[in-house]
Amino acid sequence: MSPQQGRKIAMVGATGTIGSVTLAALLKTNIHTITAITRTESSATFPSGVTVKKGDYSDASFLASALEGQDVLILQVNMMPNAMESQVTLIEAAAKAGVPWVLPTEFGSDIYSPIARDFPMTGMKKKYRDLIEEKGLSWIGIVNNPWFDWSMKQGLWSIDIPGRKATIYDSGDVKFNTATLGQVGRGVAALLSLPDDKLDAYKNKPVYLRSFLITQREVLDSAIRAMGTKESDWEILKQEPEVAIKASRDAVAAGNPFAFVGEFYLAHMQEGRGGNYEEKAAKDAEVLGLKGESLDEVIKRVVEELGAGSK
Ligand SMILES: NC(=O)c1ccc[n+]([C@@H]2O[C@H](COP(=O)([O-])OP(=O)(O)OC[C@H]3O[C@@H](n4cnc5c(N)ncnc54)[C@H](OP(=O)(O)O)[C@@H]3O)[C@@H](O)[C@H]2O)c1
Repeated sequence: MSPQQGRKIAMVGATGTIGSVTLAALLKTNIHTITAITRTESSATFPSGVTVKKGDYSDASFLASALEGQDVLILQVNMMPNAMESQVTLIEAAAKAGVPWVLPTEFGSDIYSPIARDFPMTGMKKKYRDLIEEKGLSWIGIVNNPWFDWSMKQGLWSIDIPGRKATIYDSGDVKFNTATLGQVGRGVAALLSLPDDKLDAYKNKPVYLRSFLITQREVLDSAIRAMGTKESDWEILKQEPEVAIKASRDAVAAGNPFAFVGEFYLAHMQEGRGGNYEEKAAKDAEVLGLKGESLDEVIKRVVEELGAGSK
């Protein structure tokens, strides 16, 4: 692995779902100086060793002092529109302060895949990458697909562990990439520890992170094992993807704005929509020195955390 380089890193959203694991991984390297920028109204508390700057994101002088001398700004804000839009003043302030690198709030699906075109939640992030470029800074977009463990706990891969129910699309044998929260944190920390010449190769580009390349059937089999159950203990429905997609779209049309999530997850498990970025992820894993993970171990942890282990 390349020698590591320490940086001055400012983080926004550093105690959030992805921010907290990123912060932990960055602190673990012991080579970076971390400043957490947080909103006046936030109740977030930070570990020792982190400089905290609390203030109003519409206050240019606050942001100028918080960002002065930083090498990187990581934005990991909540996905609600007002939080996403707060990136604008933060990026503008980073430009004024001369922060060369910004990791905008991406942490989702492949920005160059059909998924990014089909789902506004992914596509709308482009304007923040464009703004970073317009301001003369460089972005790196973290691609990690839906977070595996986080999604699994909510049954979002159509496998409900506590309920022992699953809907398998077609034969459930389409391969897709996904990363655990921990792997994303380790990936960002490894990326920002690269020496300048290696980091430069990612200027205005995505980085592809993954824990595994798996199929829905493999996930279900692993869950059945981790629960100490047999397939006959589960209610397993096989469904044509087209039927599930129509149901998801009908529910959106009927006024449920969150019903797109059904099709969104399914899209990652369909051939040709961009859920499989293994070739690019394998290359990035080599540069970052990132190992894959064991599906069985991750699922076992999910089962334990759900308190769903015993029969
Ligand atoms: N791949 C996936 O499966 C997946 C899933 C969910 C989200 N994501 C992506 O990851 C991003 C981060 O998600 P998350 O779940 O980690 O977020 P989160 O935990 O809900 O929130 C992160 C931080 O956002 C800050 N925040 C909240 N409201 C804000 C506002 N109005 N303006 C500015 N900052 C605000 C808070 O920081 P302070 O309190 O310190 O200010 C909070 O800790 C999302 O935007 C989305 O793009 C990906």
